[in-house]
Amino acid sequence: MKLTSKEARKFLEEYRGKTESDIWIDHCICVGDTAGKIAEALNEKGYKVDIDKSVTLGYLHDIGKYNGESHGHVMRGYEYLKGKGIDDEYANICLTHSYLNNDIICTAGGVPDPKSNLFLTEFIKNHEYTIEEKIINLCDLMCPQGGRVFTIDKRLIDIMIRRGAYSNTQYHIKETYKLKDFFDNLLGYNIYELFPQIKDNL
Ligand SMILES: [Fe+2]
Repeated sequence: MKLTSKEARKFLEEYRGKTESDIWIDHCICVGDTAGKIAEALNEKGYKVDIDKSVTLGYLHDIGKYNGESHGHVMRGYEYLKGKGIDDEYANICLTHSYLNNDIICTAGGVPDPKSNLFLTEFIKNHEYTIEEKIINLCDLMCPQGGRVFTIDKRLIDIMIRRGAYSNTQYHIKETYKLKDFFDNLLGYNIYELFPQIKDNL
């Protein structure tokens, strides 16, 4: 089954008030709306990016936190959407959003054991990230918990303060900068120009 951003928003809003905090829901909305703006700007530059799909993926990416827990949300979200008959092109965002450079190690908040989930490790290694999925990777690294937009610098520090620095942190930071450069180059300007409110969050 395909999904629109309106339908995805409904999935998300179903859980408002049902977990300890709605912060993760507002984060998903921020990621989706931020992704939509980037997708729109890329379209203006002539790139074929699906705007509504970008918003949809942003709204859905952390749906695995519906039980109020972050731990395991990647697989839980994927299984949740698959269980509802949602197509892979949407459900995959639950798997991809935390990992850069097709590498399960390239993530924040700890060093995953590649052997602990071979399905996920292999999926991340072999999956060809779509442009919409890459946008979500970046937006997740621009939107903190809550509804604001940060520079990647501030967001990376926000993650490090909350979750610590590990042996893969430098690698993840470098790949985050590469990802932002990728979009800056496509746009021909600094992506932050799309988000003037960013200066209020420096
Ligand atoms: Fe997220």
